[in-house]
Amino acid sequence: MTDSTSARPRKIHLQHLAEMKQRREPITMLTCYDAITAHILEEAGVDTILVGDSYGNTLLGYGSTIPVTLDEMVVATASVCRGAKRPLIVADLPFGSYEEAPAQGVRSAVRLMKAGANAVKLEGGLRQADTIAKITAAGIPVCAHIGFTPQSESNLGGPRVQGRGEEQEARLVDDAVAVQDAGAFAVVLEMVPAKVAAKITKILSIPTIGIGAGAGCDGQVLVWTDMAGMTTWSPSFSKTFGNVGDALRGAAADYCNAVKSHQFPDDSHSFLK
Ligand code: KIV
Repeated sequence: MTDSTSARPRKIHLQHLAEMKQRREPITMLTCYDAITAHILEEAGVDTILVGDSYGNTLLGYGSTIPVTLDEMVVATASVCRGAKRPLIVADLPFGSYEEAPAQGVRSAVRLMKAGANAVKLEGGLRQADTIAKITAAGIPVCAHIGFTPQSESNLGGPRVQGRGEEQEARLVDDAVAVQDAGAFAVVLEMVPAKVAAKITKILSIPTIGIGAGAGCDGQVLVWTDMAGMTTWSPSFSKTFGNVGDALRGAAADYCNAVKSHQFPDDSHSFLK
């Protein structure tokens, strides 16, 4: 454990994130999709866990987040919630679970909350304001996600920086203000120029969580498999803080060699009576 101060709250709630913004303490968020990893991230001291629909293109092996279903998100959310108690757990509403109408968004958000989530996240600014307001009115905290929104990747012409140029910047600021006014407790800014993200962070009273949005946000989020070096490729805005993939590959290769060479199991790993 890297942080063992007794003053830390036992459970991170929305007000703790607001307080962190106030005192300019950066908020940490990592994605996670299962109990065992959630427990490790909790021990590492992460403030918030995002059960992201990046579950699809990481652990489930889909090419994007589009195929991810609400049922899959419910299973991942329940698993994460069994593994970690202290971090605030935010679960993604997957593509197709909220776009039809605010009532659909409320129904889907209820399922994620029943699985154990503390809050939900959805993609979109002004266009999702009604849905954010309805879900919030149902007593469910909502984190918005603007800038590059992977669920609209086709519409946006691929993963590209959003908010460049005066017109796009003004639209992004409008989106950020709209989600705050609709009741969102935080907003993820993805692939946004650092200057624009810092400007939005100053304008908003709710925390901004950046991914590829520079150091001026109130917090940062990364996809854990990128951050821990599980893959050979990761986006340029991400950073590899460890080589878990290499460690796992090495352990699996050692195991295979030990079995093939009759060194495992030895007497100390066998029931001799
Ligand atoms: O699903 C996810 O991992 C996300 C992050 C990119 C913020 O939404």
